[in-house]
Amino acid sequence: MTGMEIVRGVAELRARRARWRVAGDRVALVPTMGNLHAGHLALVEAARRHAERVIVSLFVNPAQFGEGEDFGAYPRTFEEDCSKLAACSVDLLFRPNVEEVYPEGWEGHTRVTVPGLSETLCGAARPGHFTGVATVVAKLFHLATPEVAVFGEKDYQQLVVIRRMARDLCLPVEVVGIPTVREADGLALSSRNTYLDPEERRRAPALYRALCEQARILAAGSRDFAAAAEAGAAVLCAAGLRPEYFEVRRAGDLEVPHPSDSEVVILAAARLGRTRLIDNVAVRLNAEAGSTIIGGP
Ligand code: PAF
Repeated sequence: MTGMEIVRGVAELRARRARWRVAGDRVALVPTMGNLHAGHLALVEAARRHAERVIVSLFVNPAQFGEGEDFGAYPRTFEEDCSKLAACSVDLLFRPNVEEVYPEGWEGHTRVTVPGLSETLCGAARPGHFTGVATVVAKLFHLATPEVAVFGEKDYQQLVVIRRMARDLCLPVEVVGIPTVREADGLALSSRNTYLDPEERRRAPALYRALCEQARILAAGSRDFAAAAEAGAAVLCAAGLRPEYFEVRRAGDLEVPHPSDSEVVILAAARLGRTRLIDNVAVRLNAEAGSTIIGGP
């Protein structure tokens, strides 16, 4: 674990960042909740390409979990996470405890809300989730003052919310999205995949298959987004998943798309046993050059 500093306190993080600023080093931040897998390590690698210094934060943020959600059960694998990050030449791991981030608790804490975007799709099923995410990410941006921050495209709505939050608050950070890393059978890597039992694990790739199937139909020329949503949800039900939503939205702002839009993203969330799976596939719709599935097989 040579070279990686582990910092718990806000003051130490600020001090380290200030020294790097004096040295002229750019910083890339990778916010995580730990239980790191190859998807997170791809974010770290991308961060390394953008800046001289890489900070990873590891904080299971209670503010983004709703009542009855898996905050308590969320896998915490600190030792393994540290070894993986040190092997990727991360400069600093910021690992605050809840009191460091919310010294007076979350109840009366100032909140950052991106209206509209936070209430649709995952936000409809998880009220308050994106306010918890936007608030903690805004705090991390203020503390680490990164030039670049890297997030996975698997959480596409989260990426859109964070971009919008950074733009609206004039935060001088470039928010970079990195393509989803998948298992050989297409299942998107996620810390929550550890909840799946063997039978559920066998069924889980149906989510990505359903997204790709509808992406192919749109890429072939259909602009019937409602039919795509209905057919995708039906395929998930037939595969034994319980769809929460299956929708086609405009890429970038998640508005309901128009047939003339140049890029859409198909997003879905589904329950499988006690696991909530989310995934998405983007499709570039270009009448002249032909359509392309972005991130598809
Ligand atoms: O994607 C995550 O792991 C979390 O939502 C994030 C961005 C680290 C904020 O807690």
